[in-house]
Amino acid sequence: MSELNKIALKILSNGKGILAADESNGTMTKRLDAVNVESTPKNRLAFRETLFSSESMKDCIGGVILYEETINQISNLGKSIPELISACGAVTGIKVDTGAKNLANSPEEKITEGLDGLRERLKKYYELGARFTKWRGVYSISNNYPSKLAIHSNAHALARYAALVQECEMVPIVEPEVLMDGDHSADECLEKTSEVIKKCFEELIMHKIDLSGIILKPNMILAGSNSKNKISNEEVSDKTLECLKNSVPTEVPGIAFLSGGQSEIEATENLNLISKNNSTNFIMTYSYGRALQQSALKFWSKDTTKITETQDVFNHRARMCTLAAQGKWTRDLENK
Ligand code: 13P
Repeated sequence: MSELNKIALKILSNGKGILAADESNGTMTKRLDAVNVESTPKNRLAFRETLFSSESMKDCIGGVILYEETINQISNLGKSIPELISACGAVTGIKVDTGAKNLANSPEEKITEGLDGLRERLKKYYELGARFTKWRGVYSISNNYPSKLAIHSNAHALARYAALVQECEMVPIVEPEVLMDGDHSADECLEKTSEVIKKCFEELIMHKIDLSGIILKPNMILAGSNSKNKISNEEVSDKTLECLKNSVPTEVPGIAFLSGGQSEIEATENLNLISKNNSTNFIMTYSYGRALQQSALKFWSKDTTKITETQDVFNHRARMCTLAAQGKWTRDLENK
């Protein structure tokens, strides 16, 4: 078993999942504005370290993805943030892309940037304690999109990123996110997501990536958020499993879904069915941002001194997601 495979398994095993707390300052400002909290470095740290020192970190969270600002902050609890995370038995991760920009010659689409100087930045993150990383490619579905150009160029960037990360002995999360925005059907989502993921693996293989030392972070297969033809949770699970079975090489140890704008309960229920019906060898778990943090952030924003109570809200969500990753979640547990 390679060292990279061991790290991936440490993050994903036993129902553990990933807390995606790597919102850029721009995105975090949007989240904080929505709950009327000023977006300062101090407030961003205060909320995040409240989560990182929660009880459920030990049993539920195998890895935390940080944003550059956070990995350099000193916790008010006297430890560095990576120390706080590893004290819970979790692995520190870091978002290393620098964001999605307009794609030249297809300006309605995006290409993710951040390859320049990445090798040097990775060394610094490793020294700070990071052992895994994240890079997100983003694709939207509409009449002519995603284009072959967007599918190809994002897959190429993801593969170059993954190669540099493995060279630096860290596990790359490969995140091709097909957005749920739009009125497309679930079958269109299935078709486009399959094409996107297959192209990613074509490039990853060309770049000689050790597939046993990566984590795939895809979207679930859903109808567009404005579609009139929503599908059932069972269908989400069936189509998602069909997509992954047909597009992901068997060497990949695990798949950690993004929540992508689903509600907390939807994201939990869909993961539960996917795990329950999973006949593949892939570990299926979560790497949620909003679907882990939304309720906790709302609660905290009302009184930022209520640390323990905010942690209770987060603990509940993390425990529900960890049960779902094992196919053991039921709706009645939400009210206990
Ligand atoms: P959401 O779960 O809120 O989609 O965030 C996950 C993530 O890391 C997106 O890049």
